[in-house]
Amino acid sequence: MKTTGKAKGRTKKAPAAARVAILMGSDSDWGVMSAAADRLAGFGVAYEAHVLSAHRSPQETARFAREAKRRGLGVVICGAGAAAHLAGAVAAQTTLPVLGVPLDASGLGGLDALLATVQMPAGIPVGTLAIGRAGAENAAILAVQILALTEPGLAEALEGYKAGLAAGAAEKDRRLQGAIAKRGR
Ligand code: RP5
Repeated sequence: MKTTGKAKGRTKKAPAAARVAILMGSDSDWGVMSAAADRLAGFGVAYEAHVLSAHRSPQETARFAREAKRRGLGVVICGAGAAAHLAGAVAAQTTLPVLGVPLDASGLGGLDALLATVQMPAGIPVGTLAIGRAGAENAAILAVQILALTEPGLAEALEGYKAGLAAGAAEKDRRLQGAIAKRGR
């Protein structure tokens, strides 16, 4: 097992290399994009998160995207608001799957970011999720599903996750039937 140097006499495990990058145009996006981080952590998927902007730091963004695959990342999630070009700019520089999360950061409720993210020209795909928190969570789950194609442990975890969803829906139905039965009395 790979370990780093000793800390107070004990060996410390090296942190797992990130498999997913969460990029966002600004730190003001983190309140929503942290939902993606939470989902990844829930599946035990190592991630890294950075502020990188297609407009404010285009050189750094392009460099990150070009180096992402070599660094062992498997999926890049990009969250951005307003004229959201981050996902497209990253997709232009990498063959990794890029998932875009449009964010509500202007007076247009995220519609501007949705259109900027989803309307990629043919040849440079960005898998675009819903606006806001649902999109951030789904981007993470979709990233896990992509990684699960080659990582059986994740595929198993996803089966458990789906079974949990079904159990939750069954419980809601049970409660609903109880409420309906009470009304009939
Ligand atoms: C976008 O502009 C960012 O992704 C963010 O959603 C929005 C506003 O950024 P800040 O002005 O809060 O830095 O590029």
